[in-house]
Amino acid sequence: MLHPDIKEVLYSEEEISAVVKDLGAQLTKEYEGKNPLVIGVLKGAVMFMTDLSRAMNCDLELDFMDVSSYGAGMESSGDVKILKDLDTTVDGRDLLIVEDIIDTGRTLSYLIEIFKYRKAKSIKVVTLMDKKERRVVDLEADYIGINVPNEFVVGYGLDFNEKYRNLPYIGILKTEVYE
Ligand code: XMP
Ligand code: MG
Repeated sequence: MLHPDIKEVLYSEEEISAVVKDLGAQLTKEYEGKNPLVIGVLKGAVMFMTDLSRAMNCDLELDFMDVSSYGAGMESSGDVKILKDLDTTVDGRDLLIVEDIIDTGRTLSYLIEIFKYRKAKSIKVVTLMDKKERRVVDLEADYIGINVPNEFVVGYGLDFNEKYRNLPYIGILKTEVYE
């Protein structure tokens, strides 16, 4: 049953699952014989990360980072704060940053700078969704699941005011919900 606040389903559970399996297969090749540190950006990337890591047939470790750049609003500010840091030392490691969606790109460019400073051996980015139209910094993910239109999307980890993360699909909110 469709949630009453959702205007339209953009990607169904089945479509997401196919995209994640495909990305997992590509990343299995990328990290063959390596032991990457897979870094999930909380909280939006959690659903994607748990599914993606199970689709990666190689040794890997999981860790999480929580940064705030958004507050309760809908636009990234560029003023990024670390709310929870990694438990793992990054020095000399192959890093795979897992994002739910790249929007302005500010959050990710900040993370990449930190991990370079901490002497990561390699840094790759996989994002489930890419909203290229909205980019303000020069940044490309290495692996992109879905190119999405410039709409505010929720579900499969993505929220509006912490709601809708548990929807198994990705949908567009009705405008009256956030206006
Ligand atoms: P930036 O702008 O730094 O932001 O690339 C990336 C983060 O912003 C959040 N974001 C969204 N969250 N629906 C959401 O629920 C969206 O349409 C959306 N666009 C951006 C998200 O947390 C992402 O990691
Ligand atoms: Mg996020």
